[in-house]
Amino acid sequence: MSGPDGIVRIFDTTMRDGEQASRINLNTGEKIQIARQLERLGVDIIEAGFPAASPGDYDAVLNVAREVETPVVAGLARTREHDITVAGDALKGAAHPRIHVFIATSPIHMEYKLKLTPAEVLREVERGVSLAKGIVDDVEFSAEDASRSDIDFLTEVFTCAIDRGATTLNIPDTVGYAMPAEFEEFCRTIINRVGRDGVVWSVHCHNDLGLGVANSLAAVRGGARQVECTINGLGERAGNASMEEIVMSLRTRADHFGADTRIDTTKFYGTSKLVSLLTGVSVQPNKAIVGINAFSHEAGIHQHGMLCNKATYEIMTPESVGAPGTDLHLGKHSGRHAFNERVEKLGYQLTDEQSRAAFELFKDLCDKKKDVSDGDIEALLMDRVVQVTPERRYELKDYTVTVGSGGKPTASITLSHGGAETTEASVGNGPVDAAYKAILKILGFSPELAEFRIRATSELADALGEARVILRYKDIKAQGRGASTDIIEATISAYVEAVNRLYSFAAAKEVVI
Ligand code: KIV
Ligand code: ZN
Repeated sequence: MSGPDGIVRIFDTTMRDGEQASRINLNTGEKIQIARQLERLGVDIIEAGFPAASPGDYDAVLNVAREVETPVVAGLARTREHDITVAGDALKGAAHPRIHVFIATSPIHMEYKLKLTPAEVLREVERGVSLAKGIVDDVEFSAEDASRSDIDFLTEVFTCAIDRGATTLNIPDTVGYAMPAEFEEFCRTIINRVGRDGVVWSVHCHNDLGLGVANSLAAVRGGARQVECTINGLGERAGNASMEEIVMSLRTRADHFGADTRIDTTKFYGTSKLVSLLTGVSVQPNKAIVGINAFSHEAGIHQHGMLCNKATYEIMTPESVGAPGTDLHLGKHSGRHAFNERVEKLGYQLTDEQSRAAFELFKDLCDKKKDVSDGDIEALLMDRVVQVTPERRYELKDYTVTVGSGGKPTASITLSHGGAETTEASVGNGPVDAAYKAILKILGFSPELAEFRIRATSELADALGEARVILRYKDIKAQGRGASTDIIEATISAYVEAVNRLYSFAAAKEVVI
């Protein structure tokens, strides 16, 4: 991955460090959807997972590796032989595979977590990097908790990793402890001391003190030419450095950094929305670059300035990050072309078959409501088109819910399963409670309802209702989504979807339900 010195490679770890932290697992279909979008966005490296961590992670790396062509696909591995061979296997189909080997190097991690001496850690680095290099040509080495490690020891560790064949050397601020000026100097010192042409220096900053982006940018000034980051800053604890903020800082302040990326920034908004919808982690309204308020001007003085010259209050345009100026609604007169264009803008890449199905569903929706907003389209796509549940074990066939001021709400639910239909009824504290109790009678087991959320997909009175349900059973968590003009139907669909996903995650983990 050599390149002009002014190019900063973007290493996306949304599906590894980001997913590790979100409360729910993404399935392989969802990861493929994100990977396709990251490829369109132009990231240089996609870290698709930690293959030895679980069969689900292995499967995701395997499939993402086969799916994308241009980016490098990386799989994470400890220095253990098992991790490295499993990562190598998962990456077999990749056009550009990378094994990312890591071990901690700070005194606290070595003594208490690894229970290894520095000399033993050094031997692990030697062994792990050599093993990985025997499998793939592109090996990255990370010194976990580097920012709290002894700089002389780090110099030895990185020198050893390069001698054994690593070509990307990563300096993580694993616990978000570094300060920008100090981190810039720390990176510069290591890079100067270790030297070597042809290797790429990387950083990976967490956000515990809210400095993940600042530290990543400082490291670029210190000589780093790869930055590891995530969409929306998703990640462990307070998150990882946010990709969109790093890239737009480099672009907007090229005068300051003298470095740029290969990212097509107009894809940021759609990518952010896609990741948020799939992970269920919403983006705060005032989030830089991709928050819904990032380009809205409320104060009269600001609005006046904007009318005179947009540059008075905007240092970058909404168009440059793909943010829609206004949420223009589609309706029954909108054609296939306009619909497809909007779908793409929202960050979805559909197959021809999915695109046909989506357009049919859109037309059905237009019969029910006059204006179809972006939120409605996203809900429809997520709920009915791209949501990939490997096997729909249960399907909702029919439901009746009765509510009124006198008496308890009652629900009757019919689900199909294995070719047969079962109907059960229940009363509950509310219509949703009654419906869920009726479903539990059909299932014959009781997952815990870990989370339940409903929202409207736009501000209009006839917006779609979108429901999200997270179910937990024996340490497995699964999310379900449902969207409908009828909110009760949305909540029931979301529950059934979560049940189906629970079964598929349980099967992957060999857990019996
Ligand atoms: O935060 C960290 O140090 C990591 C490494 C595995 C790169 O995620
Ligand atoms: Zn990390």
